[in-house]
Amino acid sequence: MKTIAINQYGSADEFTMVDMPTTEPQADEVQVAIHAFSLNPMDIAGRMGALSSPFTDLWAFPLVLGWDFAGVITKMGKAVTGFNIGDAVFGSAAPAHAANNGTYGEFITVNTKELAHLPAGLSFDQAAALPIAGLTAYYGMKHNLKLQSGQKILVQGGAGGVGLFAIQIAKAFGAYVATTASANHRDLLTRLGADEVIDYHETDPAAVLHDYDAVFDTVGDIDTGLKVLKADGQLATIAGQPTDEQQHDQQKKVAFQFTQGSSQDLADLAQLVVSGQVKLTVATLPFSVANVIKGHRSIESRHTTGKIVIHVTD
Ligand SMILES: NC(=O)c1ccc[n+]([C@@H]2O[C@H](COP(=O)([O-])OP(=O)(O)OC[C@H]3O[C@@H](n4cnc5c(N)ncnc54)[C@H](OP(=O)(O)O)[C@@H]3O)[C@@H](O)[C@H]2O)c1
Repeated sequence: MKTIAINQYGSADEFTMVDMPTTEPQADEVQVAIHAFSLNPMDIAGRMGALSSPFTDLWAFPLVLGWDFAGVITKMGKAVTGFNIGDAVFGSAAPAHAANNGTYGEFITVNTKELAHLPAGLSFDQAAALPIAGLTAYYGMKHNLKLQSGQKILVQGGAGGVGLFAIQIAKAFGAYVATTASANHRDLLTRLGADEVIDYHETDPAAVLHDYDAVFDTVGDIDTGLKVLKADGQLATIAGQPTDEQQHDQQKKVAFQFTQGSSQDLADLAQLVVSGQVKLTVATLPFSVANVIKGHRSIESRHTTGKIVIHVTD
């Protein structure tokens, strides 16, 4: 199969087209022909050699990066139930996977726990944008912050891959949503439902927002989030490690959140997209080394808008 791989850790220029063997499915696994995959900041960390165990346990060079994918099942292990050859599916590969089993290629082999069926009304390109960013936001709102209708939440970094999901999911849950972004993103975020958009280059959110029930931090600015929070509010950060001091600020609950979420959460999130409550902002690029490099450089700029998807096949 064709893959876009690296032969050593380094800059985005390391990517090259490499022919690699496909992986045969184990009893509880399926092989999927990838129609689209999306890029995440975690891919950049992997490329630079900044990830460690468990991510890297099975890695070798050439290394195929990438976790998010959507495609069609081509082979099945004997113990698989609930899925069939020809099913359209999407999901995220296990954190630790073999060097030739990342998503930047034509096939991937995954456990069915990592899969959901593609619902009618969702394209492969759209579905590939959901798993890591969408689930992180969905898990944050639903299971971690347990956001309730009428509560006030600040989403720090509303225009990014995770942030755009977070503000819309929070709105779908009935919350009042403030968010931070650069000025060029104000119109988009307002259109997607944000009640207040704060240009963080000009205004300190802590100067204008007070007594918030919840903060979802996607940029690693925990101190600002804490100042916005009410005395017993809750802050979830996906981009910083809270210090002891930050964790013991009044009665606030402050914690780092890993990407979590079940196939059911992924299916529920997909329904929010199909129903139009969550709109996707996706830049879709054809499968090529140049486009993977372009996507990585864009994410490294820290100012991408929404998700970058690589379209592999129709
Ligand atoms: N813990 C986990 O499991 C988990 C899961 C997913 C992601 N992450 C991490 O979460 C972070 C966000 O992921 P992502 O996919 O959303 O990244 P992303 O799409 O690359 O985020 C880019 C966005 O960040 C915004 N931004 C940058 N600095 C900002 C600041 N100081 N204040 C407000 N907005 C700022 C930019 O907005 P403007 O252009 O408007 O400035 C841009 O739209 C990354 O560090 C990623 O590694 C963690």
